[in-house]
Amino acid sequence: MKLEAHAMKLGLIGCGKMGKALTIGAIDAGAVSPADVVAYDIHPAALDSLLKDRSVSAAESIAEVATSVDVLFLAVKPHDTPAALHQIRDSGSTAESLLVISVAAGLTVEKLEREVAEGARIIRSMPNTPALVGQGAAAFTLGQTATENDGATARSLLGSVGVAVEVKESLMDAVTGLSGSGPAYVYLFIEALADGAVQNGLPRDQARELAVQTVLGAATMVRATGEHPAVLKDMVTSPGGTTIAALEALEAHAFRAACIEAVNTATARAREMGQE
Ligand SMILES: NC(=O)c1ccc[n+]([C@@H]2O[C@H](COP(=O)([O-])OP(=O)(O)OC[C@H]3O[C@@H](n4cnc5c(N)ncnc54)[C@H](OP(=O)(O)O)[C@@H]3O)[C@@H](O)[C@H]2O)c1
Repeated sequence: MKLEAHAMKLGLIGCGKMGKALTIGAIDAGAVSPADVVAYDIHPAALDSLLKDRSVSAAESIAEVATSVDVLFLAVKPHDTPAALHQIRDSGSTAESLLVISVAAGLTVEKLEREVAEGARIIRSMPNTPALVGQGAAAFTLGQTATENDGATARSLLGSVGVAVEVKESLMDAVTGLSGSGPAYVYLFIEALADGAVQNGLPRDQARELAVQTVLGAATMVRATGEHPAVLKDMVTSPGGTTIAALEALEAHAFRAACIEAVNTATARAREMGQE
């Protein structure tokens, strides 16, 4: 007799931008069925689109979510997270029955674990905003009692809206400096590329469209070919041509050093904020 696979029940606490993006991503990727999703927000209206478009169930409280699911995304703001964890702790859910995946920026596993019952299974994750369009880059780290299986669950859920990698907790600040803050660096790059083209006469809307597609296309080339970016760069750099002239200008203005310093500075700031 074939045993039915146990369908995972997924909870969402905090139905804001990130929580909804992750939950809808998981549903649309088939990682969970909408009938097995229970969501709660202090503002019931925040659930409207989830209820209407994906037919998930609405809960009346954090405790109701915590006691009826196997895994939950805790997606309230960092300053609301400790109080929500206390309600999970007091709900009667057990470490055996529940895995909590926090998406709160800057809250360490140690801080999260301090707020829940001893032995609770916690995962800290750091998604980024492109998760809202299914192109996120997330990292996660396991709490003390989270299992390898829990890691696989986090990878599958976070990976349903992009890429998800497991890292050591000590590297989460570097993740924040790279993929957490990184979309802003790329927006600046796209804007600057378009500005350069506008300066040379291209209409703004065409400049923007070409700049966006250039970044998207180059990123897709790196992903699709698996080549080192330097190899792809060499392939489009002909002797005495335009590209080598532009690369020289980028080097003269310390483009690489600026990028490295941006990640360093954001990482240092994340570290500092984690200690506040
Ligand atoms: N957006 C991002 O790019 C991003 C990236 C990485 C990580 N994150 C993390 O994701 C989390 C959520 O961010 P967001 O931008 O999605 O926030 P958001 O849009 O403010 O959504 C959070 C929702 O949860 C509600 N809420 C507050 N306390 C609650 C409680 N005790 N129980 C249930 N719901 C509660 C909020 O209501 P109120 O509005 O009244 O507070 C709001 O509707 C944050 O911890 C953030 O650090 C976000």
